[in-house]
Amino acid sequence: MNAAVIKIAASILAADPLNIARDVARAANADYLHVDVMDGRFVPNVTFGPSLVQALRRETDRFLDVHLMVESPENLILSFAEAGADSITVHAELLPRLHRLLQTIQGLNCRAAVALNPGTPVLVAREVLSAVSMVLVMTVNPGYGGQTLIPETLRKVTELAELRESLGLSFDIEVDGGVTLENVHDFAAAGADVIVAGTAVFEAGDPAEAVARLRSSAEAHRRVSR
Ligand code: DX5
Ligand code: ZN
Repeated sequence: MNAAVIKIAASILAADPLNIARDVARAANADYLHVDVMDGRFVPNVTFGPSLVQALRRETDRFLDVHLMVESPENLILSFAEAGADSITVHAELLPRLHRLLQTIQGLNCRAAVALNPGTPVLVAREVLSAVSMVLVMTVNPGYGGQTLIPETLRKVTELAELRESLGLSFDIEVDGGVTLENVHDFAAAGADVIVAGTAVFEAGDPAEAVARLRSSAEAHRRVSR
């Protein structure tokens, strides 16, 4: 992957639900559209289904980054892949089923990614690192947008960057939750390649300007290792 430039993933969780198409168009310079899928069980909130991904796919050729915060991804992976997801992320906390889930995603020609909750150590994902194209580090507890960064989680970003180097792997590291214009440099310095931002993009007066500013601040502080 070796992304030359840090990517910004705009999380549509923070878009106006009645105006998602308008908001997505306002953030047209975001590299990825991040779609948070919540089932009310894995996390205490409910959000989008495959039909939204299908609708986005009709609107845009942008990279659709689907983050499944659900207890039973088995029932959903095929639907999201058919709807047009480019990448599907499942959580490492589903450990006994994790490798099979990642294989299922790859078998559908999607990029497979694994996510770590704040309380989950990097070690839990160690055995699947060679099987993923991205590792998502949750920097807040999943479930809601607009939360405050848990700073300790950034240590895992650096740990993953070092592990990637020592293992000779090339997965991207994505950070998700609590990103603001004021702190985005900390995520970049820790080693993030893909930065998810919801509130910081869609609550800004000018979402495109917010994306550009997030990207340039992140680039200016990027960890140099790859
Ligand atoms: C939280 C989601 C995040 C969320 C981030 O469970 O996984 O993607 O949208 O929102 P902000 O950027 O507002 O913290
Ligand atoms: Zn997310």
